[in-house]
Amino acid sequence: MRSAVRTTCALLLVGLGAGAASCASTQKPPSAAASPEEVSRGKVLYDRYCALCHGADAVGYAADNASQLRNSTFLRTATDEFLKLAIDRGRPGTPMSAFGKAHSGPLAHGDIDRIVAYLRSFDPSPLLDVHELRLDGDPERGAATYQEHCAECHGKSGEGKTALSLANPTFLATASNGFIRYAIEHGRPGTPMPAFGKKLTAEQLDDVTLAIRRWARSVQPGAATAGALPSLAQLIVNPSGPKPKFSLRDDRFVAAADVAAALRAGSRIVLLDARPLSDWHRGHIPGAYPMPFYDEVDTILDALPRDGTFIVAYCACPHAASGKVVDALRERGFASSAVLDEGIKVWEDRGYPMKATAAAPAKAAVP
Ligand code: HEC
Ligand code: HEC
Repeated sequence: MRSAVRTTCALLLVGLGAGAASCASTQKPPSAAASPEEVSRGKVLYDRYCALCHGADAVGYAADNASQLRNSTFLRTATDEFLKLAIDRGRPGTPMSAFGKAHSGPLAHGDIDRIVAYLRSFDPSPLLDVHELRLDGDPERGAATYQEHCAECHGKSGEGKTALSLANPTFLATASNGFIRYAIEHGRPGTPMPAFGKKLTAEQLDDVTLAIRRWARSVQPGAATAGALPSLAQLIVNPSGPKPKFSLRDDRFVAAADVAAALRAGSRIVLLDARPLSDWHRGHIPGAYPMPFYDEVDTILDALPRDGTFIVAYCACPHAASGKVVDALRERGFASSAVLDEGIKVWEDRGYPMKATAAAPAKAAVP
């Protein structure tokens, strides 16, 4: 099957309600013109909300798969719209949370603009005109090339493995074919992403881009807000249950199976969800209290039991955010605290109990 596909970002964004997005641009992105004050305010926000995973100075990989945001090859092909949507809506199903206020995250639009301005300050060059691209290839053939050259890092179905996911619906709804093909051809120098421009022919680059494009699904914006938050009086799960005894790996990590067994046994325990609230609304361990990594644990300190009741923090990354919360607790004398070792994604994949308060974003409607 041969198919010639011409896409523009305006077309790709249908269904995201993102409004008119102008992707084809050889001009400086608007955010590159931000004032030095906006840039330094953006850095403060970045350091608080993003550095945990994407690293100080946006070098990447402080947490698994959290890409290098200061990378020039990335910044010169990523439009402002692409960056803002990634921050606002996150990449549902991955450790990249929705940070926008509309999704129960902590950041207003102006904050997101400032963070984008800060990222642009690493390379304010004009955007490359890659988005209006005509691809002439065969996605069937591309799928075979993908398995041979890409699956080892990005996963067999693009779900992400040692590198970020490529099949994420929000990614594919905002990334043009030109953006994807450029990344494959030129790689991301300074990261593990190799340049395939010399290894693959132009035709193979088109093929594999179209194979990735086939994973695209329609994305429905999730519910804006949802269910009530628990009160501090509800911080302890099963207050009158027995206290579980956990043996911790490296005096720090508790196995998901042990926590699941403790919950089944009706044990007394505190569960802290270290991710942004947007994730808590999408789904959390029943009884878990939201304690986002960027907020101060002091806000809940008075309500935490000091009788040796275990406090288990979890996140998706799978240790960065929960580890930050546990460090803060231990500094304040809570020795019976631990990080959920496998993280929430493995917990969910194993079918351990989860509870959602938000209407989950519509599942992939296969076209
Ligand atoms: C808990 C860890 C974590 C935090 C905190 C986090 N990110 Fe991410 N981010 C990730 C991961 C992991 C990915 C890749 C997701 C995937 O596999 O699709 C990602 C992806 C992204 C992308 C898309 C990159 C691309 O090439 O497609 C952008 C942009 C981004 N993050 C910006 C931010 C910003 C800005 C913040 C702070 C407001 C932030 N992230 C906070 C983990 C995190
Ligand atoms: C050795 C591991 C590795 C291999 C092999 C690999 N990639 Fe990557 N790829 C990465 C990493 C890591 C990144 C993120 C780099 C960064 O931090 O910007 C990435 C980024 C990308 C991006 C940009 C995604 C985004 O959201 O910005 C695309 C598209 C991509 N890879 C496609 C491919 C394709 C197609 C192949 C096979 C032809 C491939 N990769 C092979 C590791 C790999």
